[in-house]
Amino acid sequence: MARLLQIFGFLSVLFRGATLTFQSLVVGGVVFLIFVLRRANVEADALKPVCLRWIRRAAFALAAMQIAYVLANSLILMQSAGISLAEVSGASFVLAGVLGILSAFTILALAGPRHSNGYADLLLPAAAIIASSVITSHAMARLEYRLPLVAFTALHQGATAAWLGGLPYLLIAIRRTSSSDFARQLSARFSQLALLSVAVLASAGLALSFAYVGSFQALYGTSYGAMVATKVLLFGLLLLLGALNFQLVRRGPASAILASLKRFGEAEIGIGVTVIFTAASLTSLPPAADLARDRVSGTEIFARMAPRPPRFASPAMQELPEDIYAAQKKAFESGSLSTESYVPGQAGTRPNTPAEKAWSEYNHHWAGIIVLAIGLLALIAQAGNLSWARNWPLIFLGLSVFLFLRSDPEVWPLGPNGFWVTLADPEVLLHRFFVLLVIVLAVFEWRVQTGRVAPGSARLIFPVLVAVSGALLLTHSHSLGNIKEEVLAELSHIPLAILAVTAGWSRWLELRLPGENQMRNVAARLWPLCFTLIGVLLLNYREM
Ligand code: HEM
Repeated sequence: MARLLQIFGFLSVLFRGATLTFQSLVVGGVVFLIFVLRRANVEADALKPVCLRWIRRAAFALAAMQIAYVLANSLILMQSAGISLAEVSGASFVLAGVLGILSAFTILALAGPRHSNGYADLLLPAAAIIASSVITSHAMARLEYRLPLVAFTALHQGATAAWLGGLPYLLIAIRRTSSSDFARQLSARFSQLALLSVAVLASAGLALSFAYVGSFQALYGTSYGAMVATKVLLFGLLLLLGALNFQLVRRGPASAILASLKRFGEAEIGIGVTVIFTAASLTSLPPAADLARDRVSGTEIFARMAPRPPRFASPAMQELPEDIYAAQKKAFESGSLSTESYVPGQAGTRPNTPAEKAWSEYNHHWAGIIVLAIGLLALIAQAGNLSWARNWPLIFLGLSVFLFLRSDPEVWPLGPNGFWVTLADPEVLLHRFFVLLVIVLAVFEWRVQTGRVAPGSARLIFPVLVAVSGALLLTHSHSLGNIKEEVLAELSHIPLAILAVTAGWSRWLELRLPGENQMRNVAARLWPLCFTLIGVLLLNYREM
């Protein structure tokens, strides 16, 4: 339980993101069934059982996620705030959870095969699922304009579900139907629904941003504002993919377009889920409009981001302060720390010392050199004139060794804190997880690039890992004990995350798009370029 306390902030964003994703899949499936598949023709009837099956699966996953979230959150509250189960059960997140669980089970019960009537009765539990999410959104906690904000939040989430939650059902339908003309008809119907949803989503999003951000200065000067701007940028990327798909649906014979439409649809779903997780991270932050003080100014951002020579030498180990968690644990065990200020598994937060910041900059700059080399070599390899350049993934192994030895100087193997302390500190654990991720990335992609892996799903591991790393970077927040420092850290991580998400899904498109699609060549150049830019940004990463 103590370990869980420490990472629960991050876990609760992942819970919320997964809940919003399954919510979108359930509601999107119901909308697709009623408004896109519609009624009775042979092809549509043939597709209903598979859509109903996936709606039931999404409803089950949603109920399971809600149950896990309500239980974990209640345990955390009872443990850390010492309140009783009776008191917890009256909390809004429990009421919202119960409504979500009951509505998901209702859909699970109702979404079965039927011979005659349509499925309009599924709309009520679907609306209740959206309501269960709106209950715990910022709108419900507002004293002013609560009703319009609740309405905009519901419209925003409903439109998200109809568009991004419905898209997987379109891809399933296109794959399953035997008639390519019917597939084309379905795509045209879905495009109209998507267009309407995008318009509702964007206008409701703008209204919410106006209320919760409120000024341009708050957009770049607060973490909340920066996350909204990130969503708008990723939304732009989605619109670009959506426009390419819309173009495809309107021209050319059905058979030729369906292959590309499926691939663009896959990338749209991937980026869409990333935006939903970004939204979950956004609502875990206080609205920018409520933070009138401690906003970062343009001058402070410029001072932090202005290009400076990178730092390739680390500060001496002696300059680093003792790890705060280890120090507190030792003091508690030696009896020199009072019980009420020591919470098992919870490290106090204090601003990082200049030596710790210098060490972090040193880590990012070395990682920058390595990623820049990877990006440039991958560009050369894609240009196809130097075959040895195809071994570029092996450079990632250098990055993993560097991160393992240097990302957390206070712990094993080079630091004073032993191996077991490594497993206790979530930040070190996250870094070690990244080291493993980089090694898997290197081995898999080297085998793909050098033709040791037959064309197939194994080649997709690299793009998925890169895209997931970008999404994780967007969902984890920094507790630095200083609001301005947290905003500046967010502003330096967001471009890295967006480039990683773009690199992952453009590599996916390069591997999945049919050969004759010109966008394949664009995608093949885009991801190495993103890696190169990530390298350049890391070389200028600053914490002071
Ligand atoms: C693909 C595009 C988008 C998706 C999938 C999306 C999805 C979501 C979701 C699911 C939420 C609710 C989060 C929660 O309650 O935890 C949300 C909230 C929000 N979205 Fe979006 N959104 C998108 C685009 C936008 C755009 C373009 C804007 C601004 C113009 C925007 C502004 C907001 C704001 C301000 C909130 C926060 C509401 C709050 O704090 O409760 N979103 N978004």
